[in-house]
Amino acid sequence: MGLPEPPPPHALALPADTFAGQTVAVTGGGTGLGRAIALAFARLGAAVAVLSRSEAHRSAGVAALRQLGGQALGVACDIRDAAQVAAAFDAVEAALSRPAVLVNNAAGNFPSPAEDLSPNGWRAVVDIVLNGTFLCSREFARRHIAAQSGAGASIINIGASYAWTGGPGFAHSAAAKAGVKNLTETLAVEWAPYGIRVNGLAPGLFPHQDESADIRAVPGRGPHSAEEQSTPAQRCGRPHELGWAATWLASPYAAYVSGHTLVVDGANWQRRTLRQPAFTPIRQQLGKPPFTLD
Ligand code: HXC
Ligand code: NAP
Repeated sequence: MGLPEPPPPHALALPADTFAGQTVAVTGGGTGLGRAIALAFARLGAAVAVLSRSEAHRSAGVAALRQLGGQALGVACDIRDAAQVAAAFDAVEAALSRPAVLVNNAAGNFPSPAEDLSPNGWRAVVDIVLNGTFLCSREFARRHIAAQSGAGASIINIGASYAWTGGPGFAHSAAAKAGVKNLTETLAVEWAPYGIRVNGLAPGLFPHQDESADIRAVPGRGPHSAEEQSTPAQRCGRPHELGWAATWLASPYAAYVSGHTLVVDGANWQRRTLRQPAFTPIRQQLGKPPFTLD
């Protein structure tokens, strides 16, 4: 049985005009979970800007958003580069308006035993996940603080539950997500006086059509039917469930919620068994041959 299915994607959990007249910027909003989150904001009246590197990804997101009848804009941006981030915010402000909400969703990730990770592989993931989140948050906040508009603003950082537990096979991403969770807590305090709330949202198992081949091949992530039976909820998350969580966190109905990271995973990360299964080292789980120095 497990946890019931949610209402369908087009159902509204908040008043239809909750974000009317506001601009929401979603990094990596052209694919996967970022796109589902972008669509949820559009359904509630927001104009949405999709910031990412690939034109194909951005266009897919913008097309889906425009299908809903909303305003949407794709902006080329590698979030690792502060100058590109500033230029992207300029473009969003010129075409739409200063974003009232920033969703730091973009991420890079691939499975690897830590001893196999090249310095550049480590850097690439930490740079996107942690440094990119900081650079976008900084740009967003500086513009709000300078504008002194009195209007509230909100940042949602997309995380992962291995921020708390560590993530064997994902040392780079887990460490970066732990940094993002910690950054969420610091920035929430620093920027509350300026009317900016900062929260995190950590998805559990949310398979989707845009997953990279590296992620799709991770043991335990598929096929979906096997996956669903292995979780307490007996099902995976549906991307639009994250959309509802993100829009609520950014909405006036969460006006006193800041510095919190909300895990949406049907309690999967908290499960324990009375007798632990036999321990399998990560190299073996990933099907890697014994480590050799070369
Ligand atoms: C080992 C790898 C690798 C792999 C890349 N690298 N893929 N090492 N195994 N599968 C190494 C490269 O060899 C290189 O190191 C370094 O990483 C940088 O690679 P580039 O391709 O030059 O970098 P870049 O173009 O910046 O790409 C970043 C990336 C890429 C993270 C490596 O995968 C990417 O752009 N990903 C975006 C999509 C994505 O990852 N989605 C996942 C979202 S998170 P060397 O030393 O050779 O130079 C997610 C969470 C799921 O889905 C939860 C899982 C449990
Ligand atoms: P995804 O489909 O692979 O999307 C990642 C997005 O990030 C892409 O749209 C990509 O766009 C963008 N991106 C990557 N590097 C970038 C960069 N340097 N600059 C700008 N944009 C960049 O991943 P997803 O599964 O939807 O994941 C979304 C978020 O959820 C991530 O934060 C991830 O860690 C988190 N998460 C997902 C799961 C899951 O089950 N899927 C579980 C836990 C956490 P471009 O290629 O166009 O740049």
